[in-house]
Amino acid sequence: MDRLRNKIRDIPDFPKPGIIFKDITPLVKDPAALRLSVHQLLQPFLGREITAVAGMEARGFIFGSLVAWELGLPFVPLRKPGKLPYDVQSVAYDLEYGSATLEVHIDAFDADDRVLLIDDLLATGGTAKASCELVEKTGAKVEACAFVVELDFLKGRDKLSNYEIHTLIKF
Ligand code: PRP
Ligand code: MG
Repeated sequence: MDRLRNKIRDIPDFPKPGIIFKDITPLVKDPAALRLSVHQLLQPFLGREITAVAGMEARGFIFGSLVAWELGLPFVPLRKPGKLPYDVQSVAYDLEYGSATLEVHIDAFDADDRVLLIDDLLATGGTAKASCELVEKTGAKVEACAFVVELDFLKGRDKLSNYEIHTLIKF
């Protein structure tokens, strides 16, 4: 995993002073690293009964759609509010400062879908928890969640104790 770890760049004081931003753009710029990350993300799910992959806007779209492609499964975008044109389900959640919402089309999943959620980063877990709730609101089941990076010290896993969580790199 050091090959992937070395492709995550620290940007101090972004988006605000005191935060060290984990920048994945060097990883997605390197085709071998991107391919490796996608294969590592989907590896635990080979032979498992997954029927759809969902990704959280925006960075979850990069990895999620590639995982869906590789598994030959549908990809479902979980979007920021006001972007989806058809009827939606929504879940609002708290951020460190303020709040956010994710939406999904009401017909994005079938009721018997078993969904793999993919995002680039597990930080506080707020985004992932809301995404799990959103999938469940449609009637589908969350099979597991997988992330490229986990910020251990933010304890996002604690918010997701009811779910199977996989991460490739911990900081
Ligand atoms: C980032 C990241 C995860 C989320 C993790 O998304 O891509 O989705 O934060 O944080 P959490 O575990 O504390 O919820 P963000 O919405 O900042 O931006 P993006 O649109 O670039 O993905
Ligand atoms: Mg994101």
